[in-house]
Order: sequence, then structure tokens, then C-alpha cells
Amino acid sequence: MTPAGRADPFPLYTAAHELGPVSAFADGSFLVCGYAAADEVLRDPGFGLAEPVSPNSRQDALQLMNQSMLRANPPDHGRMRSLISKVFTPRRVADLRPAIEAAVNNLLDQLAQATSKGPADFMNQVAFPLPVTVICELLGVPPSDHRRFRPLAADLTEALEPSGNTSARADAAARQLAAYFAPLISDRRASPSNDLVGALVAARDADNGRLTDQELLANLILLLVAGFETTTNLLGNGLAILLDRPDLTTALRTEQIPIPAFIEEVLRYDSPVQAVTRQARADGLTVEGVPIPKGSDLILLIGAANRDPARYPDPDRFEPTRSDIKPLSFGSGPHICIGNKLARLEAAVAFQELLTRLPNMSAVPGRPPLRRDRLILRGFQTLPIQITQRP
Ligand code: HEM
Repeated sequence: MTPAGRADPFPLYTAAHELGPVSAFADGSFLVCGYAAADEVLRDPGFGLAEPVSPNSRQDALQLMNQSMLRANPPDHGRMRSLISKVFTPRRVADLRPAIEAAVNNLLDQLAQATSKGPADFMNQVAFPLPVTVICELLGVPPSDHRRFRPLAADLTEALEPSGNTSARADAAARQLAAYFAPLISDRRASPSNDLVGALVAARDADNGRLTDQELLANLILLLVAGFETTTNLLGNGLAILLDRPDLTTALRTEQIPIPAFIEEVLRYDSPVQAVTRQARADGLTVEGVPIPKGSDLILLIGAANRDPARYPDPDRFEPTRSDIKPLSFGSGPHICIGNKLARLEAAVAFQELLTRLPNMSAVPGRPPLRRDRLILRGFQTLPIQITQRP
């Protein structure tokens, strides 16, 4: 939990693996770093999300997230997730491809222009704006409002960190987002539309009682924020690897390595989400033979599980040609990321176009990338790039 540990947690993960897949802390909680162990906890219905310490918390950001499916247990989780899955379908994601391509091309035009004058920041030019543009398109938020969401979504993601407290900024963001979405929901009810907000309002109203108004609002806001900084980090973490490894750029451009395999290995090697938490909710649970008493809190280090030497040989090597890459970066079990196909599609389109349009990208000497100082969401704050002219 030190700045150095957050900047480079991987030596600590190696040390954790040496202790075993599941370790007990002195306070009675558990650290799970083994791949099989983390997967087991995520799938076993005996484990769930901790009940909020104070369900009527006055912290708006926490209260909002606690009403969404991300923090819900059965039966509420299944009730919310099944309704949302009815409208957030693989078909809807596939239909977004033209909009994603248009957004990527527009951002790359701007990046090409910026880099023609000197170094530019990939995070600011592409990795931050792309996911927020795509999510707004999915939800049906008018383009003129996209810019407003970036700072609000960034502030609200603080409620996804495990501190149990949120800042006044995160709470203000929660209130502003709620104030934005409430009239949008009423508007879609009055004039139905085919975007996700419209489809969800229609599905909810057709199935009255399965989703409260407050839950509808909380889940719409969750969809906005959950897919934003996570996908930003996938794009940034992937590009940072490419800047370090020009041989990979060539292999990807010549299709020796398929782009989807590269993306899976980025997810494994430098997971945008490093950890999730669970609580033991039943008696008599064990994980890999370790007894876990009811009520115990668990930290599942999915960033470490992805580098478990028992699952991946030579885990600290970036190797997109390795077989059977199945990172836990999107979780596993009933809460597995509902947006995983969308995130993968955005990354595939972005890297494909980047490699085609800006093959001569390189890092900027003297201006190293800067990590964000976050524990759970791992990514870059700035990632300077330049275009090296061919001789
Ligand atoms: C690279 C990008 C992404 C990563 C690494 C990621 C990661 C995750 C993880 C680890 C979980 C499980 C949390 C848990 O088990 O406690 C999750 C859940 C979720 N994600 Fe993502 N996510 C990404 C992109 C997206 C996108 C694009 C969307 C929406 C459009 C999205 C929406 C959600 C939602 C709604 C949940 C809650 C599902 C549930 O609780 O049933 N995510 N994500």
C-alpha cells in the first residue's frame, strides 16, 4: 500500500505466491493470490459481497454504488443482472462497431495532428476520451454532454476503491450524475428510444417491480463509470508495452501475432483492475484446503492470480503467443464483467487503427510515462509519445 508498491506491485506478488495461494492476515481476513483459488472464490455461491457497513450511509457515492448490481448479493444480484443482460446483449455491442471505428478514427486524426507538431499524450488524446465516447453512445447520452462526464466519472470511480470512504468530490459527482440521469430516464419514458437507457426503461416498465427507480439509476451510472477508467487503463497499459517492445509492433502489423491474443496478454500481464473483494457468507467454506470462517473478508489479488506460476509458466514475461490465456481481469462467476466484450472490441479497433495509421510511434526520451497512484485501478496518468520519421 506504499507508493512504491502501487507503482510496481509485481515483486510483492511473487513474494505472496511463495506464501501459498491463500494467506491469513492477523486481523482474520485473507489474501488470495493463486489463480485457481481466486477463480474458486469468485464462482462459489458461499462467497459474496460484504453488506455495506452502514447501508444508509450519507456518502452519496457509496450509497449509489451499493444499490447497483456490482455490490449486490443473491437474489437481488440475479434480478438486476438478468434484466440488464436482456438489453445489454452481444448483438448491441457488435452493432456499436461502426461507432467505435468512427470515434477511434476521429481521435487518431487529432493525435496525428498533435504529434506532427511534437510529443503528445496518448492518455489525454485517446485512452481517456475513447471509452467515455463509446459508453455515452451506448447509453444514448447526446454527444454535447460527453465532455461533462469525463471528470464526473473519474471522480466517482473513487467509490470503487476499497477504502470504505469517499471524498466530497466523489459524492458531488454521484449527485450530479443522478441529477443528469433522472430526467433522461423520464424523457425516454415519454419518448421511447432504442439506446440502452431507452431499452432498459422499457424493459423495466414491462416487468414492473423487478427494478426500482433507484436501482435503475444506480445501474445506469455503474455502466457509465465501470467501463470508463478500466478500458482507459487497458488501452494505456497495452500501448506502454508496445512502446517498450518494437518487435511486437512489427509482429502485430505483419499479423504474426493476432491483435486479440495481444489484448488478452495485456489483460493478464498488467490487469486494469488489480483486486476485488469478497466476504464468506456461509459456514464451513474452504479454499484450496484453507478453512475460511463465515464473515471473513477476502482480498482477491486478480493482478497476482494472472501471474501465478502454477497457472502460467514464466508469468512475468509478456508473451502473447502463450497458450490458453484466460486472465481473471474481468472477474469470474456471477459478477463477471458485463462489459467485457465491449472493452475487448474497443481495444481491438483502437490497436488495429493505431498500428495501421501511426506505425512509427515511440516513447519520448526524458519524458517517462507516469502511473496513476491507485491501488485497484492500475493505469497511466500520462503516456507521452512521438512520431519518429523514417530515414
Ligand atoms: C478493460 C476493461 C474492463 C475491466 C478490466 C473490467 C473489470 C471488471 C471486473 C473485475 C468486474 C467484476 C467485479 C467483481 O467481481 O467484484 C467487472 C464488473 C462489471 N463491469 Fe467491467 N471491466 C471493464 C470494462 C467494462 C465496460 C466497458 C463496462 C460497461 C459498459 C463494464 C461494466 C461492468 C459492470 C456493470 C459490472 C458489474 C457486473 C456484476 O456485478 O454483475 N465493465 N468489471
